[in-house]
Amino acid sequence: MLTYALCMSCSLLFGAEHTVIEISTNNIGLVLRTGNDGRLYQSYLGKKLTHKDDILHLPLGTEAYITGGMEDYFEPALSVVNTDGNPSLLLKYIGHEVKKPEANVTETVVTLQGDKYPVTVKLYYTAYQKENVIKTWTEISHREKKPIVMNRYASSMLHFNKSSYLLTEFSGDWATEVRAKEQPLAFGKKIIDTKLGARANMHCSPFFELAFDAPATETVGEVLVGTLGWTGNFRFTFEVDNNGALRVVSGINPWASDYDIKAGETFRTPDFYFTYSFTGKGQASRNLHDWARNYQIKNGKGDRMTLLNNWEATYFNFNEEKLLHLMDNAVELGVDMFLLDDGWFGNKYPRSSDRQGLGDWKETADKLPHGIGYLTEAAHKKGIKFGLWIEPEMVNPKSELYEKHPDWVIHMPNREEYYFRNQLVLDLTNPQVQEYVFGIVDRLMTQYPDIAYFKWDCNSPITNIYSPYLKDKQSHLYVDFVRGLYNVLERINAKYPNLPMMLCSGGGGRTDYEALKYFTEFWPSDNTDPIERLFIQWGYSQVFPAKVLSAHVTTWNSKSSIKFRTDVAMMGRLGFDIKLEDMNKGDEAYCRAAVENYNRLKPVILDGDMYRLVSPYEGNHTATMYVGKAGDHAVLFAFDIHPRYAEKSLPVCLQGLKPDKMYRAKEINLMPGARSSLGADGKRYSGEFLMNVGLNLFTTGQLNSRVIEITEE
Ligand code: DGJ
Repeated sequence: MLTYALCMSCSLLFGAEHTVIEISTNNIGLVLRTGNDGRLYQSYLGKKLTHKDDILHLPLGTEAYITGGMEDYFEPALSVVNTDGNPSLLLKYIGHEVKKPEANVTETVVTLQGDKYPVTVKLYYTAYQKENVIKTWTEISHREKKPIVMNRYASSMLHFNKSSYLLTEFSGDWATEVRAKEQPLAFGKKIIDTKLGARANMHCSPFFELAFDAPATETVGEVLVGTLGWTGNFRFTFEVDNNGALRVVSGINPWASDYDIKAGETFRTPDFYFTYSFTGKGQASRNLHDWARNYQIKNGKGDRMTLLNNWEATYFNFNEEKLLHLMDNAVELGVDMFLLDDGWFGNKYPRSSDRQGLGDWKETADKLPHGIGYLTEAAHKKGIKFGLWIEPEMVNPKSELYEKHPDWVIHMPNREEYYFRNQLVLDLTNPQVQEYVFGIVDRLMTQYPDIAYFKWDCNSPITNIYSPYLKDKQSHLYVDFVRGLYNVLERINAKYPNLPMMLCSGGGGRTDYEALKYFTEFWPSDNTDPIERLFIQWGYSQVFPAKVLSAHVTTWNSKSSIKFRTDVAMMGRLGFDIKLEDMNKGDEAYCRAAVENYNRLKPVILDGDMYRLVSPYEGNHTATMYVGKAGDHAVLFAFDIHPRYAEKSLPVCLQGLKPDKMYRAKEINLMPGARSSLGADGKRYSGEFLMNVGLNLFTTGQLNSRVIEITEE
């Protein structure tokens, strides 16, 4: 086992007591340094400085992890009330250690210690060299006599001193997730936070982009992209001070969450991940995609299954016969799996609508008389896999679970309950409830080992905010709920490491990188209108790779063709939520061929480099391409949304190819009988031509789409 070793080669000493700590990736440099006062400062964050001596010329900078109660007038990273009631803390550098668990990864931990109070703060930085991503978190502990109370406990604090700051947030609502909105930051605070408890997002996603000095485009400009791995209340505070300097404080939302730590206990914050690109947002996204697939996502390097889901095809109205018929549809489409959604459980209160039955995880006898086993077997016989929907953290008041265990439910003892989607949230701070939630998956997997996939839903934020279990520690509820969830997911991962799972939360409520340690993909939005999905997928793609974006072809937006809808969905983990009766024969043939194309292109789309070529925000068209890691295979998706009459259309320059190689560009995903302007066999171009002159991708057709496969010859 590797232990931390004091690494003097990684630190320079200024005189007797000035230590310099360099945390770097191939392109990014973060320099921390101690001052004459023994405190730790952030001297630099930006392009990696390669001349060691230059580091000596850097200014001291701003205190790296500012504590409350001292001389700073702006937002602190940490604020504690000590046992004696004193609300101040001054931290001094004690030491730092560096280890290299693998050639590509460096882990640095800097230890700070209170000058008057025995509080220890450890700042952790894991730097991924190739991917240019830094993961950072904080541990807080103490040896005071009684618990200390923290009312701020950030994962990270970063400082910038630039001429201007342009923030992009990704906000919206249910079915309008991740709409990119840009705003300049001026004096004062801009806070992006949520208080939903059981999810990070409904109104705002836990990630942001921050451009410095000038707006960043896809290919030009300095931009930092940051995201928090926490499936609950989060907060990013951007504060510009009186000198025009910006601090970015990221972590759990401390709102209503004062947290006590006992002597000897360690509080570990969630991880904050960031990348810094000097060549625009596209590179920042590719950095995060690579890092996530290599280090963070469950089965990040593995394959993903195509599927047919029954939700929009049947909603709650199904029986065995209908499901078997849909399984046949899945076989005809050529997908890998059939996914049974909500509505299969509950007997005293059958789950025939979202008003009842949630919590009673036994098959409804008159709907599925032969149980789930019959369905897994039927799927097996048809040569496809079987997946199942669950929503294990939630309960309908009208359920046997609620009748039996009202004490397992988050709700106020002295007020009437109010519901979000007719349901309440189970109290995952309670270990008994954690056991019960783990048991739902474990029992199903034990009874039906052929279940090959779960869709794990979570439709309600925490309402009626009171934990019967926590009693007088209610301010721990938001933090301990999420930790309880992770305990359960950790156990599932340990026992079923290869079980793929999709995380859903009434659409894209749970879209953060800590959750993705336990899930192979997430459901980005309940909105599957392909036009909206172009924007939604564009938004998520800033931070997440195509591999985790579940994208289903449905009947939303009947004005769009099945081709348009499928072409959009092929830019993620492709699935269908539609029945063949909703299509004509030509559509069916098209979909079958598209699934075949997708299977061939999966390594490019899911594991390649993504280049966003034309933004849907900029006009009436959009285009994105994916290039396989070897640069010899690519696929380009182009969409005309609502072109204007006689608008000017220019060729689109491609990216990521090898200039000196020859490629064949061939249109695929054509409707039966349709012809391409590239001809039946495609056309031959050099990479140089494709990247400098480009291709005419757009047309004047409304809701028109084109998919072009590009193969090196
Ligand atoms: C909300 C999800 O987002 C839908 O896809 C579906 O699974 C329903 N829940 C089922 O209740």
